[in-house]
Amino acid sequence: MTADKPRVFVSRKIPDAGLEPLRRRCDVTMWPHERPPTADELIAACRGMDALVCLLTEKIDAGVLAAAPTLKIVANVAVGFDNLDIDAGTAAGVIMTNTPGVLDDTTADLAFALLMAAARRLPEGDRLVRSGRWDGWGIMQLLGHDVHHGRLGIVGFGRIGRGVARRARGFEMKVSYHDAQRVPADVEREFGATYLPFEELLAESDFVSVHVPLTPETHHLIDRRALKRMKPTAVLINTSRGPVIDESALVDALRERVIAAAGLDVYEHEPKLAAGLADVPNVVLLPHIGSASFATRGKMAQIAAENVIALFDGKTPPTALNPQVLASQRPS
Ligand code: DGY
Repeated sequence: MTADKPRVFVSRKIPDAGLEPLRRRCDVTMWPHERPPTADELIAACRGMDALVCLLTEKIDAGVLAAAPTLKIVANVAVGFDNLDIDAGTAAGVIMTNTPGVLDDTTADLAFALLMAAARRLPEGDRLVRSGRWDGWGIMQLLGHDVHHGRLGIVGFGRIGRGVARRARGFEMKVSYHDAQRVPADVEREFGATYLPFEELLAESDFVSVHVPLTPETHHLIDRRALKRMKPTAVLINTSRGPVIDESALVDALRERVIAAAGLDVYEHEPKLAAGLADVPNVVLLPHIGSASFATRGKMAQIAAENVIALFDGKTPPTALNPQVLASQRPS
């Protein structure tokens, strides 16, 4: 260990695009296991560290920050930051950062892939062929729902939601959106998207794709009542955060055909699934891989490293979530 280099704990193996610059500038310790550290292991590992580079599997709250008083920055390798208590960071004088902007297209691609897979029942077809029970072409076999010319309702019209709208154009879909704030008319025109109140969007859409951050306001936004508002032929897609959907209510809605199908990349209690979810055939389940391309995960790690290095070079971390902390940064 070199005494004058900032000490950084990386809570899981991250791509070299982030690790190498960190190693050049800092004294890096990386969690050696495939599994994430437990809360106690994380606290123990952060003691004496100047920086923590963590993933969305690590919950960083007042307790962790109090137990690691030398920490000056927590760099989350994710755009979503519901695992970080930003107020606690600000109160403790710790900068917190995320990785916006680099994963929008990759996640929008995956949302669209899920939409196609759920609507056209691709995993069911794959399972049938692999099982050896497929007995040839059938006119009534695995009928699904047309994506082209369908009505797509986007909940949350930020960068990823807009990326999905852009992709929907190629399928000549009719796009509407709902967001806490209506976007300017020129943005609506650019994306060919019409604003609808939430309840109306649910009732009118053939596909509902969710792209909101997880906040107290969006927790269980799609609950039993919202599912009942949707068409019985509708397909629900979630690539945002699991708790935005009441997962048990969704299991019932899929079983009882309140809606036709769903495609999920995220879950309420990852990596656990709600009881019965894995047994319903009309849901496509992915293991939170929205941003999982080589290029994008590399860029995310790189941004996290840039944030840490910027701070130790005396600059404002480019994607700081609480930059006001810099005025009162913890002394070294
Ligand atoms: C994020 O960045 O928030 C995704 O969920 C993981 O890439």
